[in-house]
Amino acid sequence: MNETLTLGIETSCDETAAAVLRGGRELLSNVISTQIPLHRKFGGVVPEIASRKHIVNIMPVIDEAITKAGVDLRDINQIAVTKGPGLAGALLVGISAAKSLAYALKVPLIAVNHLEGHIFANFLSAPELEPPFLSLVVSGGHTALIKMTDYNRFELLGQSRDDAAGEAFDKIARVMGLPYPGGPEIDKLAKLGDPDAITFPHPKVTGYDFSFSGLKSAVLNYLNTAQMKDETINAADVAASFQKTVVDTLADKTLAAANEFKLDKIVLAGGVAANSSLEKTLRTACQRRGLEFFYPSKILCTDNAAMIACRGYYQKTFADSTLNAVPNLGL
Ligand code: KG4
Ligand code: ZN
Repeated sequence: MNETLTLGIETSCDETAAAVLRGGRELLSNVISTQIPLHRKFGGVVPEIASRKHIVNIMPVIDEAITKAGVDLRDINQIAVTKGPGLAGALLVGISAAKSLAYALKVPLIAVNHLEGHIFANFLSAPELEPPFLSLVVSGGHTALIKMTDYNRFELLGQSRDDAAGEAFDKIARVMGLPYPGGPEIDKLAKLGDPDAITFPHPKVTGYDFSFSGLKSAVLNYLNTAQMKDETINAADVAASFQKTVVDTLADKTLAAANEFKLDKIVLAGGVAANSSLEKTLRTACQRRGLEFFYPSKILCTDNAAMIACRGYYQKTFADSTLNAVPNLGL
């Protein structure tokens, strides 16, 4: 039995998180201190406030992760930390903590790509999952279709040319007066609406790239026009129709890629993976086509350090003490 203990640290945006993982898949603790209530009154994440809150929270969160795991800090064999993409100041807090601990404990440091981390959340929810598979990564900052042939081989098939899916959810929600983050709010409201009530244009991008800015403008136009004409809108119908357009676009491209690249496992990842309609649509479509479908448990969909520890465990390459944040890190 593999007893390697990995401490994961994640501070790329508005969650301060630490987790302890035994071997590649046994999660011993997963602590997340969210700053969402703090940023809500600004309608989005304020970078400086995020950094300041991370610096206050990071050590208590790490302590709690160690205590909850029932281990001693000196038992930790390696430390995995998010190096990007994310907010520079926020990333630096986690990186500084990880570097200091790695130095003090004399253990290796692993620099993890946050997007790869989102995919690896699936290995924690489904310990039987193995590559190769096709992954749809949908977060607040990214929308990408990735072919993962091995633990360390990622092939980017396509990505958003403008807004990420989560960003579109958040922006539409904001204009509709819903609190930050908008994704879960639209998801909730959409359950009360008719997804076929309003026809919004489907993004027209060939291949496996995505674009959500045109759809976002169409929804904003719809809302503005109604306001100018003093017409009342059915907010639930708007939420449901917008969500359906996004979900259908994501699902259609994912299924087409699975078919072209002959991949029989589809793995959903990132904060938008928590969307109930996306999960249901992909699950049903996969069942119909005889494909296996995986998505992380809700707590592992959005930002967490368990996924960073898991990615770090399989990465097998190490960073040194000059590690820096890479805010715009790609795959
Ligand atoms: O992966 P994540 O936690 O952070 C980034 O790495 O960006 O994703 C956050 C995004 C936000 O845009 C949020 O609105 C969206 O995920 N999100 C959802 C849902 N839960 C979170 N979007 C749609 N439906 C949800 N249920
Ligand atoms: Zn994320």
